[in-house]
Amino acid sequence: MTKLLHVSASPRGALSDSRALADAFLDTYRQAHPDVAVEHLDLFDGTLPTFGGLAAEAKMAAFGGGEPSAEQRGEWDAARAVFNRFAEADAYLFSVPMWNAGVPYVLKQWIDIISQPGWLFSFTPEAGYSGLILGKKAAVIYTSGVYSPGAPLAFGADFHAAFFNDWLRFAGFTDVTETHWQPTVLTATRDADKAAGLQRAADAGSRF
Ligand SMILES: Cc1cc2nc3c(=O)[nH]c(=O)nc-3n(C[C@H](O)[C@H](O)[C@H](O)COP(=O)(O)O)c2cc1C
Repeated sequence: MTKLLHVSASPRGALSDSRALADAFLDTYRQAHPDVAVEHLDLFDGTLPTFGGLAAEAKMAAFGGGEPSAEQRGEWDAARAVFNRFAEADAYLFSVPMWNAGVPYVLKQWIDIISQPGWLFSFTPEAGYSGLILGKKAAVIYTSGVYSPGAPLAFGADFHAAFFNDWLRFAGFTDVTETHWQPTVLTATRDADKAAGLQRAADAGSRF
């Protein structure tokens, strides 16, 4: 293995909890794999292209076995460049805060850009979807501030890990390491929880 891509989905920079856990993961990961290059893809760096009408039409054409038109080509090629950066890596770390019970919109935008027929998945009416990202490992850091597994519904529901884990399965990943730091406001142990979360991330990085 030569390259691990860290895909981050928080705009909070040095204040980011999910980034802190990702850094703890990467510190121990680098110690265990000094030969692997770690690249960072910051989904909030403002470089993600839009996926609008022309790209959507190109996707429908590709799904039907056709080719994008000359007019659709620009948006389709821009999407392909984003996919290529993803596909070139050998392993992945995703750091994903919960936003409004789901994932931050830039992560959904990135998923909508790269999840294309013939690139990320194939489809037949008989067998349905098959992921094409095979034989690669993924690690995911999930953080939230209010929602916590087991908390009452008034503290939120999980369209976050549930959604992203399903996308990983859809893409073809079968080896997924999850680290959660989801302290609930119902407990007053946030700092101790965070230390434990950082340790879980470090442990996951050393084993990945
Ligand atoms: C726009 C926004 C929406 C959020 N929505 C939720 C939410 O629905 N449920 C929740 O438990 N926490 C929510 N949070 C809190 C974050 O998930 C939590 O603080 C997380 O650890 C932040 O990660 P970060 O510091 O890496 O950005 C939200 C935070 C922001 C900024």
